[in-house]
Amino acid sequence: MHLKTLAYVSRPLGYDPQQLDDILQTARARNGALGITGLLVSRWDLFAQILEGPAAAVDAVFASIGRDHRHVQVTLRHEAPADRRLFADWTMHDERVPAWLWSHDEVLAGRHVSDPPDVLMAGLLRLAAGRATAGAASAAAARA
Ligand SMILES: Cc1cc2nc3c(=O)[nH]c(=O)nc-3n(C[C@H](O)[C@H](O)[C@H](O)COP(=O)(O)O)c2cc1C
Repeated sequence: MHLKTLAYVSRPLGYDPQQLDDILQTARARNGALGITGLLVSRWDLFAQILEGPAAAVDAVFASIGRDHRHVQVTLRHEAPADRRLFADWTMHDERVPAWLWSHDEVLAGRHVSDPPDVLMAGLLRLAAGRATAGAASAAAARA
């Protein structure tokens, strides 16, 4: 089975927590059925998401995401074969951030689209690493 990783950014349209809950509910059900895992970073003015899983499944879900009217300016920033998953435990991890990586003015200026993709990937992985550490720490505390 060929795994791939894909990351994109977009701009929310009418962002609100209830809408985000709805998105995540659909996402987790479909991702679970298709073997997709990943991370969705959101704030009122920006979405950034990593999808990873079987290539055909990732492509199908990304096609749906591109047609979704709850966001605009869906821009693919990274796409590559993967030999392992970074988010194996998360059908879609929900990371609501008040501020992250770019200021609102930088997003308006398009930096999330024009910066090298490595900037986005490093920012996403940093968030994920923070979570993994927190998870490992609480698991260790639970065992103690
Ligand atoms: C920011 C954002 C992230 C989304 N992430 C996923 C996802 O990870 N997996 C998924 O199946 N749908 C996701 N969706 C929902 C899809 O756009 C789509 O509504 C859903 O997959 C149903 O597909 P369909 O409309 O082609 O039936 C997301 C939508 C938005 C706006």
